[in-house]
Amino acid sequence: MHMPRAQVVVASNRGPVSYALRADGSLAAGRGGGGLVSGLSAIGQQGGGEGGAVWVCAALGEGDREAVRRAGRRLDPGDTGGHPVRMLDIPPGTFAAAYNGVANSVLWFVHHLLYQTPLEPVFDLEFRSQWAAYETYNATFADALAEEAAEGACVLVQDYHLALVPGMLRERRPDLRIGHFSHTPWAPPDYYRLLPDDVAEQVLRGILGGDRAGFLTHRWAEAFAACCAAVLGAEVLGAEEGRATAVRFEGRTTRLGVHGLGADADFLRERAHRPDVEERMAALRAQIGPGRKTIVRVDRTELSKNIVRGLRAYRRLLEERPQWRGRVVHIAFAYPSRQDLAVYRDYTAEVERIAREINSAFGREDWQPVALHVKDDFARSLAAYRLADVALVNPIRDGMNLVAKEVPVVSEHGCALVLSREAGAAAELGDEALLVNPYDVESTAQALHEALLMDTAERAERTKRLAAAATALPPARWFLDQLRALERC
Ligand code: G6P
Repeated sequence: MHMPRAQVVVASNRGPVSYALRADGSLAAGRGGGGLVSGLSAIGQQGGGEGGAVWVCAALGEGDREAVRRAGRRLDPGDTGGHPVRMLDIPPGTFAAAYNGVANSVLWFVHHLLYQTPLEPVFDLEFRSQWAAYETYNATFADALAEEAAEGACVLVQDYHLALVPGMLRERRPDLRIGHFSHTPWAPPDYYRLLPDDVAEQVLRGILGGDRAGFLTHRWAEAFAACCAAVLGAEVLGAEEGRATAVRFEGRTTRLGVHGLGADADFLRERAHRPDVEERMAALRAQIGPGRKTIVRVDRTELSKNIVRGLRAYRRLLEERPQWRGRVVHIAFAYPSRQDLAVYRDYTAEVERIAREINSAFGREDWQPVALHVKDDFARSLAAYRLADVALVNPIRDGMNLVAKEVPVVSEHGCALVLSREAGAAAELGDEALLVNPYDVESTAQALHEALLMDTAERAERTKRLAAAATALPPARWFLDQLRALERC
C-alpha cells in the first residue's frame, strides 16, 4: 500500500498512546500524557493530510506490541486522536536493555548526577551488551524515520533514549533537517566523563549529527557545549560573547537552541474545574481537616525528585517549629515510575517508610501530618494544586519540572513555591519562588516555615507572576518554535 511520506516527523521512546490487553483479548487504548502530546496536536492541525506529521515511538509493553501486530504500519487513528502514529515493535530483550539498562540506568543517572560513586557505575561486559542493544534500538528508529520522512523533511528527535539517532539518520538521509531535544538536564563535563570514553564520544557525535540541539535552559545547553569541547575537542561558537550558540565539529555545525517548555494554561484551567476534580477536592479537604494549611508535592517516585529529603525537611519543620503541629498537613503524591528497576522499588519503599515514621512520631487522633498517596490520579493532583498553600518542588536536578509551573496556574488563592535551585524551572521562576539547595534539609525546613508564614496578599501577587512566567511558552508554541527554527537551518 502506498504510504505518503511526511514533512514533519517526531520521534520519542514513549508515544502519544499506550495499550493494555484486556482479559477478553481486546485492547484498551489510553492517551499518553505530557506536553509533547499537546505539542504534536498543533503540528497535526497545521500539517495534516498528505505529507503531514507522523509520530514514531516504541512499543513499551505487551499491549502495545499486540496493537502493532494488529494494526500494521500505522496505529488505528481512532486511538491516537487522528494523528498518524507508527509504533516500533523492537524485540523485548533489546528494548529492555536499551531502555532500562542504558537510558534509565546510565544516561538518566549521568545527567541527574544520581550515582553513589564509591560503588557505581561499573561499566563491565553486561554494560557492553546493553550498549549494543541501545545502538540497535537507535538504529531501528533511524531506519523507520528514514522511511517516513519526505525529501527535505524536518525530523524532531526527543531525549536521551534516542541520542544516537540524529547521526544515524544523517548517514541514511543527508537531505533531512534533524533536530534533537533534551528534556533532561545535561551533565557537567567532569561527571559526564564517568561514561566510558567511546560511549561518551558516541552520544555527543550522535546529537551533533543533527542541525539543532535543543535544551530546556541555557544551563543545560552550556553543559552540553562544554562536554563537546572537553570530550571531542569541538569548537564552541558564541562562547566569547558569554553564551554558546553552536558547536562546530568535523566540518559540521549544530546550532544550540533553548526552548523553555511552559504549562498549558487553557488545558489546565479547564481540566481543573471538571466535576471529578471538585470531588477530589472535597475528599482532600475532609482528609486535611478544617483550618489547616497544606504543603503539597506531586511527583513520579523518581530518584531525582528528592522525595525522601523533602519528607525529612518536613519532619525537621515539625521538630523545630512545634507551632505547626496540628496546623499543617503535607499532601505528598508519589506516583509509580520505572518499577522494573530495583533501585526505584527500594526508593518507593523508603518514601513510604519515612512517611509512616513521621505519622507515628507526630500524629494524633485528630491529625495525620503526612497524607501520602501512591496511586496515579491526575484529577486528584489538580485538586491538590488548587488548594495548596505551599508547593514543595525540591528535585536534586531536573530538566524543567512542570509541576512548579502548573501549580501557580490553577492555584485558587495563591500558593507559595519552595523550589530547588537545581530545577530548570528555577531559571524562569526563581524571582518569585523560595529557592533551596535540595541537599540542605535544614534550609528546606526553614523555607517551608517562611512559605507557610507568607501573607495572603504577597502569596497571591507572587502566584500571579509565577503563572505568567510559567505560561510564557505553551507546549504548542514550544513545538512550533523548534520546527520553525529547524526549517531555517
Ligand atoms: C521525564 C523526563 C523526560 C523523559 C521521561 C521518560 O518526563 O522529563 O525527559 O523522556 O521522563 O519517562 P518514562 O516514564 O518514559 O521512562
